Amino acid sequence: MSTLRLGDTAPNFDAETTEGKLNFYDYLGDSWGVLFSHPSDYTPVCTTELGTVANYKPEFDKRNTKVIALSIDDLASHKGWVKDIEETQNVKLNYPIIADEDKNVSTLYDMIHPNEDDKATVRSVFIISPDKKVKLTLTYPPSTGRNFEELLRVIDSLQLTAYKKVATPANWKHGEDVVISPSVSNEEAEKLFPKGFKEIKPYLRMTSQPED
Ligand code: BEZ
Repeated sequence: MSTLRLGDTAPNFDAETTEGKLNFYDYLGDSWGVLFSHPSDYTPVCTTELGTVANYKPEFDKRNTKVIALSIDDLASHKGWVKDIEETQNVKLNYPIIADEDKNVSTLYDMIHPNEDDKATVRSVFIISPDKKVKLTLTYPPSTGRNFEELLRVIDSLQLTAYKKVATPANWKHGEDVVISPSVSNEEAEKLFPKGFKEIKPYLRMTSQPED
């Protein structure tokens, strides 16, 4: 599989997981999705990441987003490790972890970077929209735990773009002013944003964050 790029269709797959066998597209349904890999079970950074995502599950739910993790360790290993995650991170695991022993999914999503480590996945993230398009790819090194607040922020931004025709500026946080997408004319903007907008330049128009 060549590298997946933004706008590509996220490949479907069947997989063994800690919540039983599943089909990825069936699991996602009409939701947004986050597929993320970690290098291996029983490692410290991964333990904190998987616990953090379990704690954030209500935030992903609020955003109509299903999460699913992956490593190439087997199911027995995952099941044993989940007990440690629950004990040490004070949480109940509430999403599936794929046991990608045959490397089917990690190959489809190019999650093994052999010059970094040929026996484990790196920390990949894919955000997938309801039409199964890849909307974000992110690759972190094994030694750096990801910032899941940032993933929520990107999901908020992607959903604002998909549903409200706005984009989000540098360092934007939920509730702050947003940027009107360049494809929206001023006439259309007047209808879409009744509270008004500020034209700093013809291509730089700000408005308050649209309500849900
Ligand atoms: C970890 O997952 O904890 C880890 C993986 C590779 C290097 C350092 C830490």
